[in-house]
Amino acid sequence: MTTATATVPAIAIDRVSKTYGATKALQDVSVSILPGQVHGLIGRNGAGKSTLLRMITGLETPDTGSLSFFGEEAPAAADAKGWQQRVACVYQRPSVFTNLTIAENLFAGRLPGSGPKISWRTMQSEAERILSEWRIDLDPRSLLSDAPIEERQMLTIAKALDAGTRIVLLDEPTVQLEGSAIRRLFDKVQELQEAGVTFVFVSHFLREVTAICDSASVLRDGKLLWSRTGDDVRSDDLVDALLAGQEQRRHRVETAAASGVTPALELRGATEKTGAFTDVNLRVAPGELVAIGGVGGSGKYSVGEAIAGLRRLGSGAVVVNGDEVASGKVKASQKAGIGFVPADRHKDGYVPQLSVAENMTMGVMDRLAPAGFFSPRKQTEMSVKLIDDVALVPPNPKLAVQGLSGGNQQKVVLARALARDPRVLVLISPTAGVDIAAKDAIYALILRALADGVAVVLISDDVEELLVSSRVLIMREGRVAAELADPTEEDIVRAIEGLE
Ligand SMILES: Nc1ncnc2c1ncn2[C@@H]1O[C@H](COP(=O)(O)OP(=O)(O)OP(=O)(O)O)[C@@H](O)[C@H]1O
Ligand SMILES: [Mg+2]
Repeated sequence: MTTATATVPAIAIDRVSKTYGATKALQDVSVSILPGQVHGLIGRNGAGKSTLLRMITGLETPDTGSLSFFGEEAPAAADAKGWQQRVACVYQRPSVFTNLTIAENLFAGRLPGSGPKISWRTMQSEAERILSEWRIDLDPRSLLSDAPIEERQMLTIAKALDAGTRIVLLDEPTVQLEGSAIRRLFDKVQELQEAGVTFVFVSHFLREVTAICDSASVLRDGKLLWSRTGDDVRSDDLVDALLAGQEQRRHRVETAAASGVTPALELRGATEKTGAFTDVNLRVAPGELVAIGGVGGSGKYSVGEAIAGLRRLGSGAVVVNGDEVASGKVKASQKAGIGFVPADRHKDGYVPQLSVAENMTMGVMDRLAPAGFFSPRKQTEMSVKLIDDVALVPPNPKLAVQGLSGGNQQKVVLARALARDPRVLVLISPTAGVDIAAKDAIYALILRALADGVAVVLISDDVEELLVSSRVLIMREGRVAAELADPTEEDIVRAIEGLE
């Protein structure tokens, strides 16, 4: 890039600060990103990444400092259209109007036609054009809510670029995607980058950052640690920047099923009522860890949800400690001692307006009111211990969970599952969105639960996470297709993709 125009940054962030109450979320942060760059934005949970993205999308205004795009001052805060024309953001869970059809969503805010008259036919044919350009195999008349997350993310990008946006922000977009969807997203990012589109990419997966980013910035405690371009972005430096002197550990839990012991958890020929999985058999001894992997739609999440009582079985049974658990009843599962961390923590994991303490102790209110009187002191005591267990930042039981960073919200969900002293723990991607140092804390916690005799089922899309277990089941099309003992990363990838 030697032309003069290329040196004008697509995004210039100039000395931006933002404070929430006592938290300095951003302090004097300056970053410039050139057109056509894919800029990685990394940092520990709570470092300020999402806050910075909210400033760049115009969702919030900096307390001090300013932003400009392609050399022009950012639009006024109230000019929503102006912001939308410049910047689009893709989240883990795309925030689209899900009760609209795909065509309506693509043109929400810019309906074709003149005056009050909307040309539905134009909208339909334009939507078809965009879908085919993006090779998205969906009917424009179908409801957006029926589309998988990956397609909704693609649609968000397609819609923005079609409207002329040249800057796309990606806030942990891969957390809920599986391998092939991630590859597809990255291919698209690279293709668009070549066409001059600028990206900011937030991820805790450093491999992803080094794979697609040509420049990066690191935030620590709201401050910019460094910003680099080209070959200066090395994965070792990223790890150093994130760990800040702490040592990175490899996790591998060797647990063996003790023979002759009643399994803590058993699935006997379990078949989900609507066919999400078929004839699944599984025995997990007390203190044993079993991981389950598989592509999206393989049924692995549904197995976890069925154990937790969120799905009904058509035949077969979930058995805890020798006793059959009534299927499809969350209460019955909890009573049997099953703790659960769901895949969609935003939907099923916590109540955003309630405090950390209230969320963490939600399932144990009976224990907080021993003589029929609720004890706030007991609630605080218990939550302080759980906050310490999961290394929550900030360690304040009174904060509303909606004010926590994404990774810390995830820790609250895990703490809630642990609060009941479960006998069986079912964890879906428990470290998704959690930074590498906090991952250590969470794995240490799982280890402690195992040492206490809890049976743990770990369901994940992340191969690295599956590798934590020495026993890994792989599901394909609703069935257990392979059981791997002490697998390597390659063994797991091959089994997931169905290459024997
Ligand atoms: N609306 C809010 N109210 C109060 N505090 C907030 C709010 N939004 C963010 N914060 C605080 O600002 C800090 C930065 O949060 P932010 O969400 O930007 O972190 P992050 O880098 O995106 O972390 P993660 O990797 O966990 O998503 C955190 O301490 C968070 O608790
Ligand atoms: Mg975030």
